[in-house]
Amino acid sequence: MAVYGWIGLGNMGGPMTTNLVAAGHTVRGFDLDPEAVSEAAAHGVETVGSIAEVVAGADVVFTMLPRGEHVRAVFGAEDGIWATAETRTLLVDSSTVDVETSQHCHDLSAQHGFRFVDAPVSGGISGATAATLAFMVGGEDEAVREATGRIQPMAGTIIAAGAATAGIAAKICNNMMLFIDLMAASEGSQLAEQLGLDPKVFWEIASVSSGRSWAQQTWYPMPGIVESSAANRNYDATFRADLALKDVSLALDAGERTGVKLQAAQLARQRFEQLIDEGFADKDCSLIVKYSSPDGGAPGWDGTGTSATPSSTSPSARSRTSPRTAQAAPTAKTGKV
Ligand SMILES: NC(=O)c1ccc[n+]([C@@H]2O[C@H](COP(=O)([O-])OP(=O)(O)OC[C@H]3O[C@@H](n4cnc5c(N)ncnc54)[C@H](O)[C@@H]3O)[C@@H](O)[C@H]2O)c1
Repeated sequence: MAVYGWIGLGNMGGPMTTNLVAAGHTVRGFDLDPEAVSEAAAHGVETVGSIAEVVAGADVVFTMLPRGEHVRAVFGAEDGIWATAETRTLLVDSSTVDVETSQHCHDLSAQHGFRFVDAPVSGGISGATAATLAFMVGGEDEAVREATGRIQPMAGTIIAAGAATAGIAAKICNNMMLFIDLMAASEGSQLAEQLGLDPKVFWEIASVSSGRSWAQQTWYPMPGIVESSAANRNYDATFRADLALKDVSLALDAGERTGVKLQAAQLARQRFEQLIDEGFADKDCSLIVKYSSPDGGAPGWDGTGTSATPSSTSPSARSRTSPRTAQAAPTAKTGKV
């Protein structure tokens, strides 16, 4: 059994650490949010008050934080990971961050004598809870092999993506494709409706035809067709619009740096920005379907901007906003992203 250090016990980190504890490992966890800390403690995590205590004697330390700036701070602070951990400890960042932050963590970890891998995840809160997350891991072969063993209790799939930052690069590209597919499912569903097709029949046709995608299968923005669609629940978030904007913006930043032209992703970003400007940051990202419908409404939506009601929020998905992260936590349950 191993000793895990864990920083970031939020909607993802909480259930991930629960699975490590269930597998018999010792997990020492830290978070700035007292609610996240007490919930983790209730699931068997040994919660501590500083990064130094998290890393002391740990075989591996995971970070699962909102954004690049949080990851840089936790690694690089005077009392952060690089300053306080032993170099035998493997460092794993599973946050979704920009490629530059990930490269910075690889470079500085190496300078300080550490092994580091980037290991972002797909599968959402439901995957974190069920220990079926897909991990995409980037780094040196030996570190990736070691990380694979440590990741196992939380994963359905672990893929060695390649060298440093390959995991985060794969995550960013994947999520960009998802949100473009979501636009396709939105526009397709609306055009089918206006052309007089039965929505269920059209969805079945697309499901066995070339219009099929994960977004079409899981987030199809019409009520009564796909159980996991937010359209069945007034677009209460399975994956929030502001988180979708974060992910698609990471792709666009990478496109700008590399000269890749990402017109479809730009349109997706405009759609999410528009939703947020209209006050729907905490609604589901599939509410962008309203920009395709002839009357500006969305099927299954009552037109309100209120976020998930308590009854529709999963007990496992806390809806918190940490003032320190300046990022609202998703209320997601079924978002595989
Ligand atoms: N929620 C999803 O469905 C999902 C899916 C795949 C990937 N991700 C990615 O996983 C990461 C975490 O997502 P989440 O949904 O768990 O976010 P979250 O906001 O629920 O959790 C992040 C936690 O980090 C803590 N934190 C922030 N700064 C800290 C610091 N300096 N020290 C200690 N703790 C700190 C916050 O208090 C919070 O509890 C993000 O990068 C997200 O993009 C999320």
